[in-house]
Amino acid sequence: MEPLLNIEHVSKYYGESTNVTKALDDVSFSVEPGEFVGIMGASGSGKTTMLQCISTLDEPTGGRILLDQKDITKITEKEIARFRSKNLGFVFQEYNLLDTLTLGENIELALTIRRAPKEEIGEKVEAIAGKLGILSELEKFPYEVSGGQKQRCACARALVNEPRLLLADEPTGALDSASSARLLDTMDDLNHDMGITILMVTHDAFTASHCSRILFLRDGHIFTEMRKGNKDRKTFFQEILDVMSMLGGDVAHVR
Ligand SMILES: Nc1ncnc2c1ncn2[C@@H]1O[C@H](COP(=O)(O)OP(=O)(O)OP(=O)(O)O)[C@@H](O)[C@H]1O
Ligand SMILES: [Mg+2]
Repeated sequence: MEPLLNIEHVSKYYGESTNVTKALDDVSFSVEPGEFVGIMGASGSGKTTMLQCISTLDEPTGGRILLDQKDITKITEKEIARFRSKNLGFVFQEYNLLDTLTLGENIELALTIRRAPKEEIGEKVEAIAGKLGILSELEKFPYEVSGGQKQRCACARALVNEPRLLLADEPTGALDSASSARLLDTMDDLNHDMGITILMVTHDAFTASHCSRILFLRDGHIFTEMRKGNKDRKTFFQEILDVMSMLGGDVAHVR
């Protein structure tokens, strides 16, 4: 099977010659279709930069990023909105919902960009909202619902297009533990039942224990990776904690 995503020698430098930050420094990895990959690492290690380069919101300084063997760093401005809407879903820590639209309208937005027929839009929004348990909240505005419901709405919006790849940056970061657990269960379902490939940044070992593989970033490069394999989640969780404590302050980021 071909990987869904290939990251080949990707670097991202910020700043001028005398004061360069190497946010990413020659990073290479690939993601198979159906994987649920976590990215962990201390604050400033390059996690968000990595996701932004993959999301085409930012451009790497060097290297190639292939989605389905197509180099996304070469996509023209003209093609980019369509490419994103067809292939990618994003969930960020800040929900990025539009306050003046209802939850339903927020989810719909992703589809109206593609000029889908109205009935099809309605059906798709209901299906994904049902899956995420926010069907009864669709008429409400973001200020009328809880943080967990907003985050599930952000997830629904990211998924309504049935993207090949879901990119999530600290999706549970702003949630209490019950809402986090619910969102993670949902992501597990999306991964297992809908076969959506997920790449998720997290600081949290419990959140990470839902992944099938974890990449640890340090100073802009990958220094180790762990696979869940056949282990149960509790064992994997313990192993992640062990790596985190072994690495001390480097990964165990105090929030
Ligand atoms: N727009 C920018 N201009 C200059 N430097 C930047 C910019 N964005 C990120 N950096 C730097 O690049 C490095 C990686 O940042 P990044 O946001 O990827 O870290 P992170 O791993 O996501 O951290 P956190 O866990 O705090 O979110 C940091 O040193 C950061 O200061
Ligand atoms: Mg970040």
